[in-house]
Amino acid sequence: MSYKNQIQHNRIPRHVAIIMDGNGRWAKRQGLARMFGHRQGVETVHTITEAAAALGIEYLTLYAFSTENWNRPKEEVDALMSLLVDTIAKETPTLMKNNVRLSTIGDLSRLPAAAQQKFRACMEETNSNTGLNLVIALSYSARWEIIQATKNIALAVQQGAMLVEDINEELISSYMTTAQMPDPDLLIRTSGELRISNFLLWQLAYSELYFTDCLWPEFTEEEFYHAIVDYQHRERRFGKTSEQIR
Ligand code: FPP
Repeated sequence: MSYKNQIQHNRIPRHVAIIMDGNGRWAKRQGLARMFGHRQGVETVHTITEAAAALGIEYLTLYAFSTENWNRPKEEVDALMSLLVDTIAKETPTLMKNNVRLSTIGDLSRLPAAAQQKFRACMEETNSNTGLNLVIALSYSARWEIIQATKNIALAVQQGAMLVEDINEELISSYMTTAQMPDPDLLIRTSGELRISNFLLWQLAYSELYFTDCLWPEFTEEEFYHAIVDYQHRERRFGKTSEQIR
């Protein structure tokens, strides 16, 4: 039976986060330049976004560009930025058709002006869509985010807007870039690497982790359903015993 048919529709994860890895290796295997891998990766983004929207997933967060990715060779960074800009412009009608609302997390101010402008325009256009929230992590790293949140909390205390005693989990969450979102239920990482790589460190505290050897450009809808089915067979205990949660 296909994985698609095994999905329990009353237990769809609300928030799925994905570390899309392996574009470079996929290209190399075909004897192609790395950018071909990124271009093929965009096709996977398209497929998985449509699949997530159709399943009724509320939030899909994709790690598109990390703070550390700025250290890649300039040609690759420039080409990736152009690809992102072109993709957003080209895909906005698909987002509208699928009722998808786009947003970003990360330090957008580091992006070239054209890229910032394209993302802002797409966010504005899709702002009233009520289906899937597609969140693109761009120039994002969890430690960067935690530093920003800590500075802002310290500032609020310094200015007398809150007390040290007011600092709790809920408050810290509200200072994260994901403030309005539930924590990810499921994190998927492709390409066989078993790492979190500075992604959503605060938010992933209780997420189920799913790793696959499949490289991102060849990650299919059916692979995505496999991850969802796997997630649905896990028991989430949040530190409690099996008996307590039954
Ligand atoms: C990881 O592969 C992938 C990236 C750093 C970029 C991901 C970007 C896309 C899939 C394109 C655009 C996305 C959107 C949301 C429109 P890698 O280069 O690290 O691969 P490697 O580990 O095999 O070298």
